[in-house]
Amino acid sequence: EGNGIKLHKMSVQEIQALAMATTEPVLDLMFSEDLISAEVVKQLPAGLTMRPLSSTDYKRGHLSVLSVLSVVDDLGEDAWVAQFRALRALPKTYYCLVIVDQATDKIVGVGTVFMEHKFLRGFGTVGHIEDIAVDKSQQGKKLGMRIIQALTHISENSGCYKTILNCSDANIPFYEKCGFTKKENEMAKYA
Ligand code: ACO
Repeated sequence: EGNGIKLHKMSVQEIQALAMATTEPVLDLMFSEDLISAEVVKQLPAGLTMRPLSSTDYKRGHLSVLSVLSVVDDLGEDAWVAQFRALRALPKTYYCLVIVDQATDKIVGVGTVFMEHKFLRGFGTVGHIEDIAVDKSQQGKKLGMRIIQALTHISENSGCYKTILNCSDANIPFYEKCGFTKKENEMAKYA
């Protein structure tokens, strides 16, 4: 301590904790974790966590969870990472989040909100909820609802004046339970 430097003797537990902390991989995320509602995360079943999509999530089964929703073409990890980077490069536009089973390190739920910037409503922003999917084995445990709540939180905290989505008739009761109401119709023209 002679020259002002305080030496601190570390306990074995402190050294182990430090070793654990430094070996824990730092995930490369699509957006700031701070945007995910702590209130929503608290309500997840034990052993599950929610976070922004990471550039290493291809191998955690991101596409296989999405395949419960629609056609998924697996173009390989490099192409997947390129798409991740392209979406992340658009500032304040894409927010993809995932629920991960911590025991298996596999993704069990996914969802996205993307921001549409308008000229009307004082250059207002609309949050579009897209691509919600929960792994079949985990459906019915309120994971879908937690994803919608977390995405709506991001949308509202980004200043969106409304949050909207399209769904099948069969999913209307689910979205009503999440606080959404039916408004107007969806039109589509496939290329
Ligand atoms: N009909 C009636 N009620 C439903 C339905 C349904 N189809 N789905 C869920 N609910 C109810 C649940 O019973 C629950 O009610 P409770 O609060 O009274 O217990 C409530 O809605 C919340 O359900 P969750 O447990 O959160 O639903 P889950 O985790 O299974 O997720 C989801 C729902 C996302 C629709 C899931 O079943 C799924 O992945 N389906 C296949 C893909 C799909 O259709 N995705 C949505 C496409 S629309 C879009 O992406 C914008």
